[in-house]
Amino acid sequence: MKFKRTKSLYDIHKEYDEGYSEGHTGNLKKVLTVKDLTFMGIAAVIGAGIFSTIGKAAFDGGPGVIFLFIITAVTCGFSALCYAEFASRVPVSGSAYTYSYVTFGEIVAWIIGWALILEYAIGNIVVAISWSAYFNHLLQGLGIHLPDWLTVGYQTAKMKYDAAVAGGGSVADLVYTSAPQVLGMRFIVNLPAFLIVVFVTVLAYVGISESKKSANFMVWLKLAVLAFVVVLGMYVILRDDLAHNWSPFLPNGFQGVLRGVSSVFFAYIGFDAISTTAEECANPKRDMPRGMIYSLIICTVIYVIVALVITGMVNYKEFDGVADPLAYVFNKLSMQKIGMIISISAVVAATSVLLVFQIGQPRIWMMMSRDGLMPKKFSSLNKKYKTPGFATIMTGILVGIPVLFIDDLLMTDLTSIGTLFAFVLVCAGVLVLPRISKEKNKFRLPYINGRFIVPLIAFAFIFFYRARIMSLASHIASDNFQEILFLLFVVVLMVVAVLSFLRRYSLIPILGTLFCLYLMTEIPVKSWIAFFLWMGIGLILYYSFGRHHSVIGKRQKGTTK
Ligand code: ALA
Repeated sequence: MKFKRTKSLYDIHKEYDEGYSEGHTGNLKKVLTVKDLTFMGIAAVIGAGIFSTIGKAAFDGGPGVIFLFIITAVTCGFSALCYAEFASRVPVSGSAYTYSYVTFGEIVAWIIGWALILEYAIGNIVVAISWSAYFNHLLQGLGIHLPDWLTVGYQTAKMKYDAAVAGGGSVADLVYTSAPQVLGMRFIVNLPAFLIVVFVTVLAYVGISESKKSANFMVWLKLAVLAFVVVLGMYVILRDDLAHNWSPFLPNGFQGVLRGVSSVFFAYIGFDAISTTAEECANPKRDMPRGMIYSLIICTVIYVIVALVITGMVNYKEFDGVADPLAYVFNKLSMQKIGMIISISAVVAATSVLLVFQIGQPRIWMMMSRDGLMPKKFSSLNKKYKTPGFATIMTGILVGIPVLFIDDLLMTDLTSIGTLFAFVLVCAGVLVLPRISKEKNKFRLPYINGRFIVPLIAFAFIFFYRARIMSLASHIASDNFQEILFLLFVVVLMVVAVLSFLRRYSLIPILGTLFCLYLMTEIPVKSWIAFFLWMGIGLILYYSFGRHHSVIGKRQKGTTK
């Protein structure tokens, strides 16, 4: 499928070689090496996920949650290889947005650019709220107690209040009840979350070099703490003979493991963020793919080992409702000081995620603005710091204001769905790219013929789920939306299998697309509705602004060169 307004690889390379020096833009600083990119990947990936959401996933899946980490890593690995192929061919900022412009054309690119806001800006709302929770925990450990109504968002407090009222429980001790009133409204804001967003925005504004140095430092710190957790945890497991906690390994079967999809996927989000810095990279064609893949491998190894250690130290059932599982396992074994060190590390880890995402979002807007799809201001560079200043401030506002008031639950799912959607289009986009020889390209996605393998996988999947599919098909009218999504996935799987047989599609992008689509079907319906609403708003904006100001559109109409 191709749309009329598509960017050619030739145009992109020309723009890249000539630099973006049309007066208002100028060039970004090319300072990032493969080590920096790998570090940036780790900085963006290891954060709120491993320090908090792993608890719920371990409770649902038991020690066998490591399988989910491996499955998700494989899914992300397929997508990372596809990102790497694009990053090597299209070495400009903009990530999946730019890649879709080349393969599917302007409208899909806009849709992806709009979806990426969910990954970066909305994702950062979740991370900032998690940061605030850990930070507050740390302050309390130091004997500093902020008023409760300054540490959570209004929505979270109100939801707890409503639930207590509905359940007939006491509301006397709730934040909502004790908060001061302003103009008849309860005044409840998450101040630490707001302040960290301001701090990170300033850092992203003053420069990529400063951001790089801070990210590198934060990565070393969190890696050191996680290594310490693993070594000490293993020692405790051996010393106290706790290995029995690993049995049964799959207490709730594989279904239990799969319940953690959204949280575990969230833990992996971020490796793709480094592709937004392609123009600040010394050798993007070679280093961008390497950075992405190295960071993904390192994070996977860490996640699997950490998951094994914490489910060995305490029984998986204890993780019910635990928001800080890593600190919890040590506190549980009366090692409070270690728990404090972990909380510090969680704060640092979340800060680095915030920083990379806060750098990524403005660069995507910058690209969209250069293409005329967003106002020109979004691509203006700050003269002194050479960063997209206006876009960085706008990102700060978009993240900073909601964190004051909002609850993070729906935001986590929205981030996952938006990111998976972008991954699907990047993987599918690789199938549309023209084949080029190895010499021209520093990275090539290995071509494995999917002609027989994809239909075989489809057959195995359908065979495995035959009972569920049959029952679904016979009650289609009364099935819930989640099951209908599953059925739709089966239909897509069959179509892809047939197409792969006919067109000999490359296996890796096909598997990437299918894995991501499958994970999307696991996201709750409420988030799908919010996702469609978000996309609807995006389309209205495109047709009222971007479509008329598009550089390619004007060029095609002959109104500009
Ligand atoms: N992967 C990032 C985190 O876990 C978003 O915080």
